[in-house]
Amino acid sequence: MIAILLTPIWLMLPALVPNSAAVIFGGGPPMDFGRSWRGNRLLGDGKTWRGFIGGALIGVLVGAIEIAVSDPLSEDHFGFGPTGTALAIVIALSVGSMSGDVLGAFVKRRLGLERGQKAPFLDQYDFVAGALLFALVLDSGWIADNLIDDNAWVGLIFFLVLVYLIHRAVNIIGYKLGKKDVPW
Ligand code: CTP
Ligand code: MG
Repeated sequence: MIAILLTPIWLMLPALVPNSAAVIFGGGPPMDFGRSWRGNRLLGDGKTWRGFIGGALIGVLVGAIEIAVSDPLSEDHFGFGPTGTALAIVIALSVGSMSGDVLGAFVKRRLGLERGQKAPFLDQYDFVAGALLFALVLDSGWIADNLIDDNAWVGLIFFLVLVYLIHRAVNIIGYKLGKKDVPW
């Protein structure tokens, strides 16, 4: 039971960390270079290249550390798979996470929401959805084996609830550090 709840947290860490890391790395030119589309910014000032690249790199770094530390203990790195697969999954989760976040911002701007305005669920889950989608495209069997089959989905749901709480906490911290204009 403990393993079912902990495995998705372990596996999704490279998807979770980039979102928080982007808050720290953010700054510099926005990804849309200030361009607008249909009266609203394409993505807005909350999506910067530094945030995207820094976030994705930190996610890959965290995943690489997970692979390295689990290597002597577990041949499949507690679910990531053999080293080659594991690295590919880690990259897909990290880059997918930051891409999902960008897509979320794109959707928010199309809905007329300003940078930082609340979009419940979209704000909390755009990056998780992006990460899962990238991993699914890369290796659908990996998603099924580790996050769906044999009660693994219970852990995935536990993880999704946890993400909501972590997202809230991190954004409040980002706000206090002056990295975010609003605490959500
Ligand atoms: N950030 C960044 N580049 C990214 C993603 C995030 O620089 N690709 C930084 C920005 O400083 C951003 C902060 O991380 O304000 C928090 O990200 P998020 O909450 O997703 O952005 P919001 O400011 O809420 O903007 P949006 O409404 O576009 O989601
Ligand atoms: Mg966001």
